[in-house]
Amino acid sequence: MSITIPNLGSFPRTRLRRPRRDDWSRRLLAENTLTAADLIWPVFVIEGRSARQAVDSLPGVDRLSIDLLVEAAKEAFDLGIPAIALFPCVDPALKTPDAAEAANPDNLVCRTVQALKKALPDMGVICDVALDPFNSDGHDGLVRDGQILNDESVEVLCRQALVQAQAGCDVVAPSDMMDGRVAALRDTLDANDLDRVQICSYAAKYASAYYGPFRDALGSGGALKGDKKTYQMNPANSDEALREVALDIEEGADMIMVKPGLPYLDIIHRVKTTFGVPTLAYQVSGEYAMLKGAIDRGWLKGDLAIEETLMAFKRAGADAVLTYFAVEMAKMLKAR
Ligand code: PBG
Repeated sequence: MSITIPNLGSFPRTRLRRPRRDDWSRRLLAENTLTAADLIWPVFVIEGRSARQAVDSLPGVDRLSIDLLVEAAKEAFDLGIPAIALFPCVDPALKTPDAAEAANPDNLVCRTVQALKKALPDMGVICDVALDPFNSDGHDGLVRDGQILNDESVEVLCRQALVQAQAGCDVVAPSDMMDGRVAALRDTLDANDLDRVQICSYAAKYASAYYGPFRDALGSGGALKGDKKTYQMNPANSDEALREVALDIEEGADMIMVKPGLPYLDIIHRVKTTFGVPTLAYQVSGEYAMLKGAIDRGWLKGDLAIEETLMAFKRAGADAVLTYFAVEMAKMLKAR
């Protein structure tokens, strides 16, 4: 009787390729998953009816009037996307140094919230809290003598969030990076019987070059005087992001946003492992534009590149991702 004596030591006993051999096994052993429920869709809204405008630096992303946006949101919700994030493109004539339009209860974003909640009561509606769409200086806070004012800005931000919440939004998302605004917003909402409204704090928001196409879409880039380095974070820092997040949690934030996304996966990972709080990532306009530009030229395979980058956010620890690819990705997932 012949027996086989393995040539001990010549071959690896542990073969990591073994579980990779078959599709069932790769799927079964996947450590992370990406579903439509992980996605938030950021959208740009304009005045008018049946109006749609392309954005040159964001191919495939259109600014939509409220009626078209409601239709598009229905499609997104039916695909399983739980929430939408609104960004209003405000008539330049309404932009002033005091950003008063931000607190107008009948402004474009409030009317959009009302229309969305009426048509789609179960879809989460997130409103950005920052003055840049309304401020003739293009900054997220008020400007005096070239300085971005902190405490005065926070007061206006509270008024802004209040009209958004009263219009029916589910989440206010301060992206302004003023100090102390999360506590001020929480107190303001609670004092006005709006304790149901969640706060998603852009706690770690960096002074990034990747916001360019977004500012084109909003028309806020041309107006911007200087840069945002006195309030948005220095891309060189990561310990500071943890201090920002710790403060915002203490001040009452329900979820934390890291922004931009892909260049800051280390921050997402540190935030999630340090605090274990709901952590969101924003794949911002410049990241979208880079990918889309390469995909449209045939340099990258779109379906693979989009899914790989979105999965990277999940792997880093994000619970959800804001992405201009949300609808495209959800369609790809549904087609499986
Ligand atoms: C401003 C705001 C910005 C973005 C979201 N909210 C731009 C900025 O800080 O200048 C950028 C999002 C994107 O680039 O997709 N409050």
